[in-house]
Amino acid sequence: MRRLTLHQLTIFTALAQHGNMTRAAKALHMSTPALSIQIKQMSDAIGMPLHEQIGRKLYLTDAGRRVEEAARDILNRLEALDSEIAELQGLEQGRLRLSIITTAKYFVPKLLGSFCQRHPAIEVSLDVANRDQCLNRLERNLDDLYIMGKYPEALAVEAVPFMENPLLVIAPSGHPLADRKNLSPKLLAEESFVMREQGSGTRLAAESFFESHKIELKTRMTLGSNEAVKQAVAGGLGLAVLSQHTLILDRASGAFAVLDVKGFPLIRQWYAVYPRGKRISAVTSAFLQYLISEGEKSIRSHP
Ligand code: PGA
Repeated sequence: MRRLTLHQLTIFTALAQHGNMTRAAKALHMSTPALSIQIKQMSDAIGMPLHEQIGRKLYLTDAGRRVEEAARDILNRLEALDSEIAELQGLEQGRLRLSIITTAKYFVPKLLGSFCQRHPAIEVSLDVANRDQCLNRLERNLDDLYIMGKYPEALAVEAVPFMENPLLVIAPSGHPLADRKNLSPKLLAEESFVMREQGSGTRLAAESFFESHKIELKTRMTLGSNEAVKQAVAGGLGLAVLSQHTLILDRASGAFAVLDVKGFPLIRQWYAVYPRGKRISAVTSAFLQYLISEGEKSIRSHP
């Protein structure tokens, strides 16, 4: 049995499919005598006839049908192996184009860094954009993956949640509310706020929280970046609602206090988004899996 070759197995499945030596030989671009010799060698190796000829028609024997079944299994397995290897090669050589929304720049580059250490040959491009620009790129299908906190419901997309995005209320350190516990959101109506720009996911979430509590915020200033908002808060211009991710490097500085307001942290999600129906590459799919596993780790470490 071990003398059988893959070439012979391929020939035998063609013979079973066409039911005729001449047609099978033609399909395999070989001569009929050459094919017939291979079939004869197979039946000699197995020790039983694999087919019988009745008139012009060729029938497989019981042994022939078993050989055909095994040949298909083996060839299918090899085909699957072939595509697995192609995927692996893709992973070692591929490209990854990411477009991420402003606040995601506080954690995505770090995750990307550790992903690239595992797959050093992958070429990465990262575009940091505001929501409108990100949506525009998504509509034009310019990137492999988009990271955003609010996916567009009007577009046909797949949106995979992978990590929590907690929003906090921050105040300059030493603020009178800083030491109080369990503050009612209503108290914040008396304060001035520094807000992110219109269209920012953080701003939309903060607005909808306060609207649902029938609180009208006093906006002192609107600024187009998290860093600018932090500077304004540190300078005493008001309070702000920001993603916890934006404060990772500032928590130790003591410039801000996080207020203990009922309903906060407001838990949002980060989504990895791509157009529905897009065939995602092996690299993109590996990065997506990586994001999901890092998200699960972060939940385990901050339950
Ligand atoms: P941002 O945050 O738009 O406020 O930068 C991202 C998001 O929450 O969608």
